[in-house]
Amino acid sequence: MSDLPPSSTIGIFDSGVGGLSVLRAIRELRGDVNIFYVADQAHVPYGPRPLEQVRGFATAITEYLLGERAELITVACNAASAAALYSLRESFPEVPFVGMEPALKPAATLSGSGTVGVLATPATFQGELYASVLERFAASVTVLTSTCPGLVQRIEAGDLDGPDTRAILEEALCPMLDAGADTIVLGCTHYPFVIPLIQLIAGPGVKVIDPSPAVARQADRLLKEARPAAKIADGLSAGRVQLCTTGDPAAFSKLSAALFGESNPVSQLAWNKGALCQVEM
Ligand code: DGL
Repeated sequence: MSDLPPSSTIGIFDSGVGGLSVLRAIRELRGDVNIFYVADQAHVPYGPRPLEQVRGFATAITEYLLGERAELITVACNAASAAALYSLRESFPEVPFVGMEPALKPAATLSGSGTVGVLATPATFQGELYASVLERFAASVTVLTSTCPGLVQRIEAGDLDGPDTRAILEEALCPMLDAGADTIVLGCTHYPFVIPLIQLIAGPGVKVIDPSPAVARQADRLLKEARPAAKIADGLSAGRVQLCTTGDPAAFSKLSAALFGESNPVSQLAWNKGALCQVEM
């Protein structure tokens, strides 16, 4: 067990550093809550894996976070949301979950050209969640997609603007821009970290939609519903952030500080027969 003080705790997880884009948005909105973040870097990337396998990871990570007293779980990963959000809600009916889905609804509203691009990983495009978003919100627009092969790995390596990262993004974006896309949806939580490069390639007239502020607002709403009597949002107490990785804690610490601008403790977790456990350091 961690030594976080007994106030509201949000559990957040992703395959790696991507969910830090959501963590950052939640911190901006709710600096008073404690956050417990799991990065499953032993298995990054999730995107090319079978949905069933990702569902297994997501279930075990959720169990771990609940053991760390998380009262709300944010699945800060589109791939894990696609693979597991429905089943997590079924398996843990008492737990509020916030998931990610490509933000096609605001994109369809914002697009003047009627053509939008979605950047996400293969798991996200395969899930029922994406099919449902497409059906509900994208009837009036043309949607172009790219899985940006290798981009998650470049971001995990801390390469936010090097030639390889740029080449991946140009390959994804140029056909969309040539086809008239004026709005780009980021359907992977890693991608907000390359917004400056996306904007540079796409030009200032193209809107880039990062869903993390909306996800943070939803987490805030659900937390208030779950803990109506809790002393929250008083702005007086500073919430603590505990980061964990199934990869290398030193590398994660360095990269998360660079991406997120805050230095937080990082502990190591390990997979053991399908469950997560803490490694003494
Ligand atoms: N950040 C993740 C997402 O939002 C996962 C990317 C990956 O591991 O492939 O989809």
